Amino acid sequence: MRLIIYNGKGGVGKTSVAAATARRCAKLGYRTMIMSVDTAHSLSDSLDVKLSSDTVTVEENLDALELNIIHEMRTKWFDIKDYISAFMLSQGVEDISAEEMAILPGMEMVAALFYVLQFKDSGLYDVVIIDTAPTGETLRLLSFPDVSNWYIDKLFGLIKRMVSIARVTVGRMIDVPLPSREVMESIEDIKDNMERVKEILEDPENTTIRLVLNPERMPINETMRSYTYLCLYNKTVECLIVNKVLPPDVDGNFMKKKLEEQEMYMRMIHEAFDPLKIMYAQQLRTELRGKESLDVMAEMIFGDSDPTVSYAKTSPMHFETEGGIDKLYLKMPFVRIEDIELFRGNNNSVIIKAGDQKRTVALPMTLVDAEMLGAEFDGESLIVKFKRTRNA
Ligand SMILES: Nc1ncnc2c1ncn2[C@@H]1O[C@H](COP(=O)(O)OP(=O)(O)OP(=O)(O)O)[C@@H](O)[C@H]1O
Ligand SMILES: [Mg+2]
Repeated sequence: MRLIIYNGKGGVGKTSVAAATARRCAKLGYRTMIMSVDTAHSLSDSLDVKLSSDTVTVEENLDALELNIIHEMRTKWFDIKDYISAFMLSQGVEDISAEEMAILPGMEMVAALFYVLQFKDSGLYDVVIIDTAPTGETLRLLSFPDVSNWYIDKLFGLIKRMVSIARVTVGRMIDVPLPSREVMESIEDIKDNMERVKEILEDPENTTIRLVLNPERMPINETMRSYTYLCLYNKTVECLIVNKVLPPDVDGNFMKKKLEEQEMYMRMIHEAFDPLKIMYAQQLRTELRGKESLDVMAEMIFGDSDPTVSYAKTSPMHFETEGGIDKLYLKMPFVRIEDIELFRGNNNSVIIKAGDQKRTVALPMTLVDAEMLGAEFDGESLIVKFKRTRNA
């Protein structure tokens, strides 16, 4: 089962690109599922069909699901939800907010990944496409190496915080319900499932992440950081989709100025992401909504190619640590080591110049203060070496 995950900053076009991909896959005869994880669901709007928290068949070969975390909690994780609600009630929190508080940030994504397991086991789909929410939690969950303990850590962290708040405000512990055997078993199940999720997420043959952005400064900077973290945790970032590109024939001074600005951002995108495969979709003059415009979008991005075919099985960038030295590997063909120049850039980045090529890489937080030791070339990748300061 092929799994394609679309991620990117708010409003860049993730839902539209995901829906366009799904329609194309279905047309090619793949049994396709598109799942929206965003709480502000716009997939219904985009596909122009009413969707729900249960699977809806949109058309031949295309099913869709808008994940609703309250529904998931009530139907699948009721033991845990009831426990947290009971706990909150014991602390004097009203029933309705108690249920809300049982929902942890990023849990929608956990629920979505559990659906992926279910789909894989059932063999119902050839392709599953996830339209993610633009949150830090989504990225953390996708990139974090040991997602298996994510929920548990959050859950127990939350309970610990609640207990300490109760201590401070009440001055003593009041009846705190202890988790039952069922609750503990549910937590164990979640742990086991997360192990399997991890395997699926790290399977470069079938699972890839596609980053969507616009040619604008903020989305570029943010996508650079996401890219670094996903690569740091060995996820396969397969391609970049630059959406809302202005057509070259815009009229008027204002738009011409915008076009010039965009050219500068396009250069920035290449410097940050080459040799990652980059695809483009133009800004449409009309509203992008409904089947026809989604098909226009699929045409712009994929031409007549099959969108399930992966452009790469590895990300062009990865990190390794060896003998206390952190190494950033960056695919950069045809460079001569004597031409390499390294600089520190803005926003915790490193700038690599090699002849007429230039790359800007956002550094992970742990390397922000690290000493840059220099670079070498292994015939395929440039390797930039860092030594972390003792506090990092
Ligand atoms: N290429 C395009 N041309 C014209 N309009 C577009 C294009 N791509 C997206 N849009 C419009 O931009 C808006 C945001 O798109 P979309 O909902 O796909 O983004 P998103 O990244 O999923 O947003 P969110 O982060 O809020 O989920 C929508 O109104 C959509 O119709
Ligand atoms: Mg969206």
